[in-house]
Amino acid sequence: MRIGALASGTGTILEALLEADLAVAVVVVDRACGAEKVAERAGLPVVRVERRDFSKSFDRDGYTDAVVAALVEHAVDVVAMAGFGTVLGPSVHERFAGKVLNTHPALLPAFKGWHAVEGAIAAGVKVTGCTVHIATLEVDDGPILAQEAVPVLSGDTVESLHERIKQVERRLYPATVREFIDALERDGTDGWEER
Ligand code: GRF
Repeated sequence: MRIGALASGTGTILEALLEADLAVAVVVVDRACGAEKVAERAGLPVVRVERRDFSKSFDRDGYTDAVVAALVEHAVDVVAMAGFGTVLGPSVHERFAGKVLNTHPALLPAFKGWHAVEGAIAAGVKVTGCTVHIATLEVDDGPILAQEAVPVLSGDTVESLHERIKQVERRLYPATVREFIDALERDGTDGWEER
């Protein structure tokens, strides 16, 4: 199973996938970012599908098609989002149906969206966490594969809480991706090619 990782951030979650010896075949980024450097240092192919438009008229479907083309070109079987900052359109979920994974820094369905950690602090919750799930067209939705709780401590900032959550994500995400791939290999693929 060849994994295509999608990232936009500092790349520490990507680094954890690589340290777990998961078979990442290509890293796709949507901007210049730390994750790009992590991939380059690991000697992996990196494709920057640069997102230049952050306006309402952004051609999301066209952008998604370009990401899918990069993944297909590298014969990817499973897509692992590792902090990807662009919400993708339907074509990625059609081409990799049920095989797009995501890690989210909150206990879904609570605190969906890009500001999940800020949301948890603003709500004053005492416990948040992380969720690994199968991504669907609906953002931060889809079947949950694993979750782990993380305490919110008094005096936490967005940075301190996010880092505590990411420490868990760096363990839980690679382990869950591994289990997912093992199950696919054991039970056979029901992928797009075979339908
Ligand atoms: C993680 O918390 C992930 O859940 C979120 O983005 C963060 C990525 O962290 N979607 P990093 O850039 O890999 O450190």
